[in-house]
Amino acid sequence: MAVDRERSVVFGEAVGLYESARPGYPDRLVTDVLGYAPAGPALEAGAGTGKATAAFAAHGVDLTCVEPDARMAAALSAKCPGVRVEIGIFEDYVPDRPFALLYSAQAWHWVDPERRWDLAHAALAPSGALALFWNHYLVTDPGLRAALAEVDHRHGVSSSSLHQETPIRNEEAQHLLAGDPRFTDLDERLYSWTQWYDADRYLDLVRTISAYRILPPGRQEPALRELAALLGDGVEMTFVTDLTLARRAPGTTAQ
Ligand SMILES: C[S@@+](CC[C@H](N)C(=O)[O-])C[C@H]1O[C@@H](n2cnc3c(N)ncnc32)[C@H](O)[C@@H]1O
Repeated sequence: MAVDRERSVVFGEAVGLYESARPGYPDRLVTDVLGYAPAGPALEAGAGTGKATAAFAAHGVDLTCVEPDARMAAALSAKCPGVRVEIGIFEDYVPDRPFALLYSAQAWHWVDPERRWDLAHAALAPSGALALFWNHYLVTDPGLRAALAEVDHRHGVSSSSLHQETPIRNEEAQHLLAGDPRFTDLDERLYSWTQWYDADRYLDLVRTISAYRILPPGRQEPALRELAALLGDGVEMTFVTDLTLARRAPGTTAQ
């Protein structure tokens, strides 16, 4: 499926909301990824405001981040001053060294599907690790979730990931990696937790979802008001982070 370029840049308009409302990633995921990867420099694709970057940088990783949105990149540099930030899309980034680790948090699906596996292979050192992860967020209560999804539907929101099960991006990544001889040692790990969101933070979270951000002007606020009317004080969210790991097979060359 082609990448929706217009939709891929809507996050930069909401840097503050993104930083305050979006969940981060579990510490155990970071230690698992670093335990799987050989020692050496790491590369992050689509780093955004640095929600994953900060956690990796805290482990002293030598980190280069690629992020196309200048507003996101500025927030990232302010938050993680020791990290190299390259402004641009991952497709245009030319690696200046072989990386021991390439990871992408909630962003790999924005990279051109025709090129992303070649780019990953080219960026990695032999036996270097690829770590792709996505957070899945869902309102925990299925009854409330259905009522919120009905509001989405009425307002033409196609795929709000908060209110309905969305395609598991890791499944596609694993399927493709399993059929690609340039990658080996495929592994998957799941991390789940719940978190209470008060109503305001929840609505801020909705405002960061691209399916809401791309609504025509004047359409977003009425939809949010209807969601708010269903919420009460707040809502319990269930988060699942799904991690896919693979390794560049030693001895493989570019296709
Ligand atoms: C959902 S955000 C995830 C940001 C961050 N990794 C996080 O976990 O919070 C997706 C990010 O991918 C970036 N992005 C979009 N298209 C991209 C591309 N072709 N190459 C690299 N990053 C891209 C966006 O600018 C945005 O920062």
